[in-house]
Amino acid sequence: AVNDSEVTPFSVPGYACQRRCTLENHNAVLTDALSLLAENAELSDEDGRGVAFRRAAAVLKALPSAVTNMSQLTGLPCLGGHSLRVIKDILENGTSSEVESTKESERFKALKVLTGIFGVGSKTADRWIREGIHNLQQLRDSGQTLNRAQQAGLEHYDDIKQPVSLAEAEAIRGIVGRAVASVSPEAQIVLTGGFRRGKLTGHDVDFLITHPEEGSEVGLMPKLVSWLESRVSFYAALLISKQPKMIVVMFKSIVTFSKILLNVISGIFLYGQKFRAVLEMGGRWRAVRVDLVVSPISQFAFALLGWTGSKLFERELRRWAGHEKGMSLSSHALYDNKQLSCLQGRYIRASSEEEIFAHLGLEFIPPNERNA
Ligand code: GTP
Ligand code: MN
Ligand code: MN
Repeated sequence: AVNDSEVTPFSVPGYACQRRCTLENHNAVLTDALSLLAENAELSDEDGRGVAFRRAAAVLKALPSAVTNMSQLTGLPCLGGHSLRVIKDILENGTSSEVESTKESERFKALKVLTGIFGVGSKTADRWIREGIHNLQQLRDSGQTLNRAQQAGLEHYDDIKQPVSLAEAEAIRGIVGRAVASVSPEAQIVLTGGFRRGKLTGHDVDFLITHPEEGSEVGLMPKLVSWLESRVSFYAALLISKQPKMIVVMFKSIVTFSKILLNVISGIFLYGQKFRAVLEMGGRWRAVRVDLVVSPISQFAFALLGWTGSKLFERELRRWAGHEKGMSLSSHALYDNKQLSCLQGRYIRASSEEEIFAHLGLEFIPPNERNA
């Protein structure tokens, strides 16, 4: 055992956007515990506490080895008293009583189940819980009015809860890519979100679409959606909500497809390897959440950076921009609040992620190291 005096404390920069964080996590037990507390706070509309736990977890994710001794944490940023207590509990006892009791609490379990329904947020879930609804069966029996998204979410609950694999994501890229090419041949489509960061599974599949000619992306989304709707509805339920577009695409496997339907689909998609991969994968239909975002080419770098994540990495980029640089960053633009001309700040152009990092005075962090 190492005694306290020999321990070299870890050291990491204060903002997650200054740190390289791959998917390799040497402190998964600790970060899982803190993430669960973050999730509980977020589900209880305590966003401040949620962010604090997320930041603490991100610091531990960035460490080069497992924490074995509290003194290694001396001087690390973002570790508040509450997070440190949880870490200490786990290092000493193997578990944190707070985490265990949260996990077992009826309220947390109900919030997780209900917000796991596509289209249900923490406020709706909270209202239902106060009306005595704690699970899907009670919701079904309650006669609550559900909107279209929630109805589909409830119907496809098990599918949507099941992680999407990289192979499924690539297959869906084939289909959406084909649709994009049909409505706008020059348009480009990029896989963003967790898959761009190297994750092998996701809760959804995120795509960013743009057109090399500024302005030609206008109207692309409605065309794309109606193209998909008209074809996909043959064999799939399709569901669209506002900003960003969410589509629930359900694939049916070769096992249960009729030959006729297969021919129809092959005729529509002229599919090659990719769509076939989906058909051969599962034994049945499944619903997958897809986020589609269209961006004008002038904003593409900002959209790409903004939709690649992780969520905390993005939040930290915006905090860095605001607090350290006097700038405002969004997934549309970077704005310098200091450069006043005619009482207005200045928009800063960028055509790549690298340029945006440079404008922010940050070392470029590639997508696979943005897993904060
Ligand atoms: P999994 O889907 O679970 O694999 O993780 P993910 O990292 O892909 O998460 P998610 O799909 O939720 O989000 C991907 C990126 O999109 C993250 O960087 C989010 O910050 C960003 N994002 C999600 N929703 C919105 C939104 O409504 N507006 C903007 N601007 N960005 C969003
Ligand atoms: Mn995603
Ligand atoms: Mn998403």
